[in-house]
Amino acid sequence: MGEVEVVVSEYAGFCWGVKRALELTLQAAREAPTPVNTLGPLIHNLGVIEQLKSRGVGVIADPREATGGTIILRSHGVPKEVREHLAAAALTVVDATCPFVAAAQEKVQALQEAGYLVVILGERDHPEVLGLRSYAGPDSLVVESAADVPEDFRATRVGVVVQTTQSQERLSELVAALAPRVRELLVHNTICSATELRQRAAATLAANVDVVVVVGGKESGNTRRLAELCATIQPRTYHVEKVSEVQQEWLRGARRVGITAGASTPPEQVQAVKAHLRELDP
Ligand code: F3S
Repeated sequence: MGEVEVVVSEYAGFCWGVKRALELTLQAAREAPTPVNTLGPLIHNLGVIEQLKSRGVGVIADPREATGGTIILRSHGVPKEVREHLAAAALTVVDATCPFVAAAQEKVQALQEAGYLVVILGERDHPEVLGLRSYAGPDSLVVESAADVPEDFRATRVGVVVQTTQSQERLSELVAALAPRVRELLVHNTICSATELRQRAAATLAANVDVVVVVGGKESGNTRRLAELCATIQPRTYHVEKVSEVQQEWLRGARRVGITAGASTPPEQVQAVKAHLRELDP
């Protein structure tokens, strides 16, 4: 009875950049000119969006929808054109771009200005990658993995920048694929420290438990990569978005269950999964 031990990984859930964006948003809700809107949902989490709504923070999809008040830029950052558009508009802009993302944008711009062909490793349609790409110049390339590098790709000077939540393994694979095809390869490892700590802690956790439950949105790339990483170490890895997805049979014969969570997973969600796993323990 109650034999299963449930452990939560260190650095599971909200990262520093997301916490900072939430704090800036709550502060704006209290004191910034109204209406207050975020450009796109602040975090891919319905509970959080509802909570913000109850404090008067709305969501707009297009910067042109904002005609007054305050607009909040998410931790992912925005494309250059959006920033320029907003700077010219009569709006209060609260910039919650994560400093790690801003640093990656600066690297892209510097590479482009120095004449490098920029290769970005990241999810093609992710807002962070769209932002990075806007600084990269027309001949830049976005790849989701080493396999996306075209067979006939050849270049003289190539500069690599990485989406902050990518895995080190994917970066290594990309570098290995590019090196033989270019004369000069400059790599900026812009994977943020929060991501690295989270992945390392998750790997350690996966090696020390019988089952891993990864909590976070199915749409969340960083959560999916976390699940991918854990599954290579512990095949009994499950990615859940909601508590109700957790199944009792996952616990069969398990003595230790580990939980980790993506950067946009609120702490309450992690705790709810933990409590539920305890309840399911036969
Ligand atoms: Fe920033 Fe890294 Fe989080 S880039 S938003 S601290 S995952």
